[in-house]
Amino acid sequence: MPFNQICQIQTARRPNPSHTELVIEGFNGADEARPGQFAMLRPDPPGDMLLARPMSIHSIERLAGGGTQMRFWIKIVGHGTRVLAALERGQSLRVVGPFGRPFEWKGPEQPWLVAGGIGVTPLHFWARELCTSGVRPRFLYAARSSSDLVALDDLRRLNMELVVATDDGSTGERGFASEVLARRLESGARGPVFTCGPEVMMKSVASVCRKHSLPCSASLETIMGCGFGVCLGCVVWRQASGQSEAQPVRVCTEGTLFSTEELGW
Ligand SMILES: Cc1cc2nc3c(=O)[nH]c(=O)nc-3n(C[C@H](O)[C@H](O)[C@H](O)COP(=O)(O)OP(=O)(O)OC[C@H]3O[C@@H](n4cnc5c(N)ncnc54)[C@H](O)[C@@H]3O)c2cc1C
Ligand code: FES
Repeated sequence: MPFNQICQIQTARRPNPSHTELVIEGFNGADEARPGQFAMLRPDPPGDMLLARPMSIHSIERLAGGGTQMRFWIKIVGHGTRVLAALERGQSLRVVGPFGRPFEWKGPEQPWLVAGGIGVTPLHFWARELCTSGVRPRFLYAARSSSDLVALDDLRRLNMELVVATDDGSTGERGFASEVLARRLESGARGPVFTCGPEVMMKSVASVCRKHSLPCSASLETIMGCGFGVCLGCVVWRQASGQSEAQPVRVCTEGTLFSTEELGW
């Protein structure tokens, strides 16, 4: 069931100046949302924030006393994320969704989930679901520095292999996600790769996968106006197998996950 509701913020937690975790509780339809889906968020009243901003769902949990809890992580990059990240407990947030197609994987191999920075949110939600359903993914969580690893504690609670890497070596292995993944693949830990993060990082991951003849899918975080297929602000070009040329597709409705080969990466 889709939701379009105004919720009160239960918790606003700021582990560092550029990241805020927003937790909301108890609204109808929340537990219908699946990993890989996102919601459009906007303060209520919206003030000067004309358009809502897309945010992946980090987790949904059924509470012991009934109802559900939904969590988001906001990384400040501009005006909209600054406004959302400054919200406090008790303030109102309009949450509309769920949008996008849920992530799916069925196969015998252990998949690699490769997250860069705040791209961790949809992959964390998915890893939880995969672990619950008996698939134990391997998770590579990479970021610039240790302070950007905001979801590390959540990931450590999951029963899966977790590799952590930072560009500056402040936590985990030193190196970019693509370099660390390449080392693991070379030592035989092969499997299909799903990635979410900055585009430059996902393109490097796709190139490593191509070299190792492994399928790679990327969850795109294009700039979005509406989130539900109307504004065409999120269009990318994809050439699906069997098509003679690339066609425009909307990330918000046909995605957010695409084969990197079909994207021409
Ligand atoms: C499906 C989806 C899920 C997302 N999930 C999350 C999430 O869980 N947490 C989170 O913090 N962010 C997430 N994002 C990104 C977030 O929506 C953008 O950072 C936000 O919309 C930027 O708004 P702004 O007003 O702060 O920035 P603006 O003022 O619009 O832009 C500031 C700068 O950031 C750049 N920018 C804007 N949007 C993006 C983008 N999507 N990717 C890269 N650069 C961008 C602009 O080009 C500009 O340079 C997601 C995006 C999508 C499409
Ligand atoms: S965001 Fe409007 S069509 Fe995709």
